[in-house]
Amino acid sequence: MKQLKPNVHFAGAIDWDRRLFDELIPLPDGTTYNAYLIRGSEKTALLDAVDPTKAEVLIDNLVRLGVDKLDYLVAHHGEQDHSGVIGDVLVLYPDAKVVTNPKCKEMLMSHLHVEEDRFITVADGESLSLGDKTLRFIYTPWVHWPETMSTWLVEDKILFTCDFFGSHLASSELFVSDEAQVYESAKRYFAEIMMPFRKPILNNLEKIKDLDIEMIAPSHGPVYNRPQFIIDAYRDWAGEEVKNEVVVAYVSMHGSTRRMVDHLVDALSDRGIVVRQFNLTGVDIGKLAISLVDAATLVLASPTMLVGPHPNAAYAAILANALRPKTRYAAIIGSYGWAGKLVDQLVGMLGNLKVELLEPVVVKGMPTDENFEALDELADKILQKHKEAGIIA
Ligand code: FEO
Repeated sequence: MKQLKPNVHFAGAIDWDRRLFDELIPLPDGTTYNAYLIRGSEKTALLDAVDPTKAEVLIDNLVRLGVDKLDYLVAHHGEQDHSGVIGDVLVLYPDAKVVTNPKCKEMLMSHLHVEEDRFITVADGESLSLGDKTLRFIYTPWVHWPETMSTWLVEDKILFTCDFFGSHLASSELFVSDEAQVYESAKRYFAEIMMPFRKPILNNLEKIKDLDIEMIAPSHGPVYNRPQFIIDAYRDWAGEEVKNEVVVAYVSMHGSTRRMVDHLVDALSDRGIVVRQFNLTGVDIGKLAISLVDAATLVLASPTMLVGPHPNAAYAAILANALRPKTRYAAIIGSYGWAGKLVDQLVGMLGNLKVELLEPVVVKGMPTDENFEALDELADKILQKHKEAGIIA
């Protein structure tokens, strides 16, 4: 069995085949549900469980690790991919107590019907001794639910963070071996799961900054044995700084919007702006979300379907609105056949974004030279805004 340090083992499950999370989020590289077994000289604790689909793997791992008696099951988070098997573990180990915070306790009772007498609740900063190993609990709320917390294993200097710092990456390796690969997976995870909570993330980073961390062990993806790598990445992603990048998300039915997009993308590129272009027909929304982590500007491009945006463009707008990237500027371009409310409806879907809306460009039928000039002016405006914001010199 894989071991982080003496008497600290990986007990979780690798899900090589999962391709969708929450019936929404693409998982091109699968994922893992990490549980960790910590044996102290007096007590034994399991940190988190696994997704219900992998219950047998967890139980088998506990048997293989020779766990006859389990004293504590630490629940960092109430979501079922980590908590869904708690009931099975409690049946297997009738004396085990679930150690968690009051908010998570309430969730586990309501979501999973865990009996109240099975809990021990802990306060922020409280410690629990396993003998020669000490667990210290650190509340790290909103990564990504309100009850989330982490555990600091004092003697071994390992921070167990559950979803915080996680990556959706199935790997047989316990530790990160290819930082470039994990960076991409962790950024996808951040974009899809963590991005709406950038402020609490910065607070949590502040909270752990004085710990002398040797390893960060999340609940998805490999363990970081060079933790500064992922801490620095989170500071960058969650921070306020945006890059000289424009995300152009578009859909076109008969080619008018496509021609506008082609022209605008060229115009932006000519002005030295990096463009990330996504055709919303069959897009990997994870890649779109990743691009929104850094981009200063979002351009949504859509034809008019009946009186409103194409549903694919509406989907992208709703997704961006939910993920709340730090994007500063947004513009809508597109086309229509006879009339419509394309711009009004899309703007109404972006209410969560703290963006300055730039002048839209909406054309009737095929774009004309005059329309292309309007797109050049939009590119000029985006360049000007990026300069004014100090994003480019
Ligand atoms: Fe991995 Fe929020 O659960």
